[in-house]
Amino acid sequence: MDTISNISGLDGLIKDCTKCALHLGRTQAVPGVGNTDAELMLVGEGPGEEEDRQGLPFVGRCGQLLTTTLVEVGLNREDVFITNVVKCRPPKNRDPLPEEVAECQPFLKKQVELIKPKVIVALGRIAAAHLLGRSVKITKEHGSLDVLPFNEDVLASIIYHPSYVLRNRNTQIERDFHNDLLEARNIAYGAVAPYQVST
Ligand code: URA
Repeated sequence: MDTISNISGLDGLIKDCTKCALHLGRTQAVPGVGNTDAELMLVGEGPGEEEDRQGLPFVGRCGQLLTTTLVEVGLNREDVFITNVVKCRPPKNRDPLPEEVAECQPFLKKQVELIKPKVIVALGRIAAAHLLGRSVKITKEHGSLDVLPFNEDVLASIIYHPSYVLRNRNTQIERDFHNDLLEARNIAYGAVAPYQVST
């Protein structure tokens, strides 16, 4: 890992990884996608069925909601880097086990080291807990910031997982998801002046 100096080299290691049992059930590993110079990085829990099939993160229903909300806050998927805490699909979409996260964490750390984002958005309680190394009460802590324990130059923003938002459309949860993502975007890139209508 120390000899790896770019994301494509790292992707190769991730695709060949057999360090935990998740490799046995995968179609392919899902390293991550997007701008390798991004100021904002989004981290989910682990690939689902569609992600495992396509080799890309957040491309199923959750991904569509995430992509739409990114656009609503002024970002395209291509502007940010999107990945997961574990790079291979857990069977039946169960939560990743601590030992699976531990084996995969060097990949995420290396992604952060190479991309050097200003802000990492942790999508949901599970991703936030693994990123921060502590338990997270998502209903209380969404919208708040912490420092990434393994890289103190990076802020971690805790927001809801899009799958939770999908189960709660048109509610305060969806509004919070939008506002929390907007705030993370503003911290990473600076707030944009309100759109001026010329008269
Ligand atoms: N959920 C996740 O946490 N990650 C994905 O890539 C897709 C769905």
